[in-house]
Amino acid sequence: MTHPTVSLTTAAGTPVKRLGYGAMVLEGYYGAFEDAQADAVLGRAVDRGLMIDTADAYGNGHNETLVAGAIAGRRQAAYVATKFGIVFDPDGTGTDLPTGWGFSLKINGTPAYVDQCVEASLGRLGTDYIDLWYAHYPDPQVPIEETVGAMARAVEAGKVRHLGLSNVTAEQVRRAQAVHPIAAVQYEYSLWRREAETDLLPTLRDLGVALVAWSPLGAGFLTGTVDSLPEGDFRHVNPRFTGDNLAANLDRFAPLRDLAAGLSITPAQLALAWLLHQGGDIYPIPGTRKAARVDENLAAAAVTLPADVLAQINVLMAPGTARGATLM
Ligand SMILES: NC(=O)c1ccc[n+]([C@@H]2O[C@H](COP(=O)([O-])OP(=O)(O)OC[C@H]3O[C@@H](n4cnc5c(N)ncnc54)[C@H](OP(=O)(O)O)[C@@H]3O)[C@@H](O)[C@H]2O)c1
Repeated sequence: MTHPTVSLTTAAGTPVKRLGYGAMVLEGYYGAFEDAQADAVLGRAVDRGLMIDTADAYGNGHNETLVAGAIAGRRQAAYVATKFGIVFDPDGTGTDLPTGWGFSLKINGTPAYVDQCVEASLGRLGTDYIDLWYAHYPDPQVPIEETVGAMARAVEAGKVRHLGLSNVTAEQVRRAQAVHPIAAVQYEYSLWRREAETDLLPTLRDLGVALVAWSPLGAGFLTGTVDSLPEGDFRHVNPRFTGDNLAANLDRFAPLRDLAAGLSITPAQLALAWLLHQGGDIYPIPGTRKAARVDENLAAAAVTLPADVLAQINVLMAPGTARGATLM
């Protein structure tokens, strides 16, 4: 069974902008950060009408409380996406999921945990509904039909408007979609990680499901501003930023910086505009800790890339250009 396409709109009926905002960066993974600064950045993202992407696991629940502050008093105009499924309570139960980067995540997709998470997220977000609610990772021990079946009950109860999945295979999306309409799938997609194009994206298009692109700036690499990492930065576990790989990648992606300069836009804008040119169903959610960069990134939505530039990018930064293993 397939379902009609779910369009991403706010509760007030406004279509969601193609460029969103990822709030994970506000939790210190990219370096220490103060809540007062976070409020200014999130406030700007909500002012601009951007889809706000958070998760219960970001900052162990703290990120959702930051989002609560930004949407207070203007809930109807905002579009809030959150996720559940990564167990951040050290005493909580779940299935071990090795990431391939030297650490494991603990995942819980059981119906009882689903029920518990929706209430917890609503409480932290200070709202009575979530616009888009994702399973962060599928639980390897729980059939996806069971997880989505429980998520569907939250929709029926009016606690959630749209359902999403994250870090899933094409086959898992098909199985989930047979249980309840899936509005969006979140997956890493950018100029330095393009596996989604092979199998997942064609399936999403077949089913009418949007693709929300996480780490659309390659966790900052594609902005051309990262040539070393500060101490404590979580990207130290990412092989693309470590050892000889960082220098190799800087060299391989030098054309991105040159092409951007030629177009009088920033490399970040070029990376985002390229994603937006891959189809009207792609929603990149770049993260930044700087309010001015919310605007810089949003301006990418107004960039039209000439066909010859798109063709050059496809040759110079073809799939597989980046060196270093990806997450899972
Ligand atoms: N579903 C999942 O499993 C999953 C996994 C990872 C991420 N996500 C979501 O995706 C969102 C985005 O991913 P991400 O934060 O990992 O990576 P990203 O958006 O690709 O990159 C974020 C990095 O780019 C920098 N940056 C942003 N705009 C910039 C600009 N205009 N110029 C220069 N640097 C710029 C930021 O630094 P500054 O802060 O200094 O600007 C930050 O270090 C997250 O916030 C999260 O919501 C989801």
